[in-house]
Amino acid sequence: MPENTLSITDNRTNKTYTVPVENGTIRAMDLRQIKTGPEDFGLMTYDPAYINTASCKSAITYIDGDKGILRYRGYPIEVLAERCTFLEVAYLLMFGELPTEKELNSWVYDITHHSMLHETTKKFMEGFRYSAHPMSMFVSTIAALSSVYPDAKLVRSPQDRMHQIIRIIGKVPSIAAMSYRHNVGFPYVYPDNDLSYTENFMNMLWKMVEPKYVAHPAIARALDILFILHADHEQNCSTSAMRSVGSSETDPYLAVASAASALAGPLHGGANEEVLRMLDEIGTKDNVPAYIKRVKDGHFKLMGFGHRIYKNYDPRAKIIRWSAEQVFEVTGRNSKLDIALELERIALEDDYFVKRKLYPNVDFYSGIMYQAMGFRPEMFTVLFAIPRTAGWLAQWEELMKDPEQKIARPRQIYTGHGERDFVPIDKRVPVPIPAEYPSR
Ligand code: SDX
Repeated sequence: MPENTLSITDNRTNKTYTVPVENGTIRAMDLRQIKTGPEDFGLMTYDPAYINTASCKSAITYIDGDKGILRYRGYPIEVLAERCTFLEVAYLLMFGELPTEKELNSWVYDITHHSMLHETTKKFMEGFRYSAHPMSMFVSTIAALSSVYPDAKLVRSPQDRMHQIIRIIGKVPSIAAMSYRHNVGFPYVYPDNDLSYTENFMNMLWKMVEPKYVAHPAIARALDILFILHADHEQNCSTSAMRSVGSSETDPYLAVASAASALAGPLHGGANEEVLRMLDEIGTKDNVPAYIKRVKDGHFKLMGFGHRIYKNYDPRAKIIRWSAEQVFEVTGRNSKLDIALELERIALEDDYFVKRKLYPNVDFYSGIMYQAMGFRPEMFTVLFAIPRTAGWLAQWEELMKDPEQKIARPRQIYTGHGERDFVPIDKRVPVPIPAEYPSR
């Protein structure tokens, strides 16, 4: 019997089946042959939230959650954060290899020269309330760009896909900066092609009346490192959304908008903003023990802690913590860091967190750093979305080239009524209105 197989005995029929084991998985479709009779549809797997289901094959990012390992195309995140720029890493994610100097210069030129937004975007942005959340503006504006580039629908054309990829990576900082300037009521700042990707983003955010914006090098480098750390993370919730929506062959602007919508959730990319709110609520180091008790009593989760994959320290959190110290040397120490460090110290000693393998994740320290850089909490998830757009697009490109992939359409376990006879309205009996139904 070949060793890479699984023998499954169905005790309902006493039949035994042999299914191949490949890459530590069995194909769910190999279970469909397991039936109790000719009418039986065959076995499926049931896996809410896909906790134990591989949805695709990917060569982009590798994570070992138990060992706290994260690699982009085989390169450890620690090395990339130390030795690369964000656009260099975006190239690696997209094309699979680190670029030569000539390749990198060409890539940077193309991205830089696609940072302008169509002027119609201003009118669109003006439609938002001044207090609109930047993630709502980011998601909506990305989707709106779908109407500006009708050639984006040519998703089966590699050339057209790459043109949109370059456009979107180039434009997301401009959209993010525009949403911030709209929030604070400042005039929009056009891109400056003399600046790097992150310096230009800072320029579009913070340039006032000076003739030319000059970014603080330590802050620009820290932001570039944060962008590298947030660029990709295999099949996380938002990337899974990108792949699922992209599988219908919609255009990449709409697919990125769907991914950014998933990222906005507080359990995902919205956690960094929630961490700041949590630290504000705790207020001082002395209040940490009482707050942790309320977490353990199940009142709420410790934001910035825990991870579906990492059951060890998130390697990105370590790098962010180091990078934060570099920023604080420029901006002055953020008092919230002391509360965060105390929260981490106590949590890592507490059996509740140790037993559940809950460690700080990428969001635990990033918010403190963003705040020290001068960003408002509402912008934090947008700062996550900018670099993750490169990851979403690399995963989308891989999806579009994968011959095994087709439109995503999961099955379900039906738990509803069997067939029922229709009931005319005058024969119906009232059902109790659910408690959550808004009272008039
Ligand atoms: C990101 O997937 C990715 O790769 C995401 C990401 C990326 O780069 O794309 O890494 C970015 O989203 C990081 C995560 C940011 N979210 C948060 O910090 C929010 C707080 N964390 C939790 O909501 C939670 O840890 C998740 C959502 C991150 C993971 O949840 P899981 O894998 O579904 O785990 P779970 O909810 O089943 O928790 C297992 C146990 C439960 O307790 P019991 O029911 O066993 O008693 O751990 C508890 C949970 O209640 N738990 C927590 C907790 N996280 C899990 N308890 C307190 N505080 C927490 N933060």
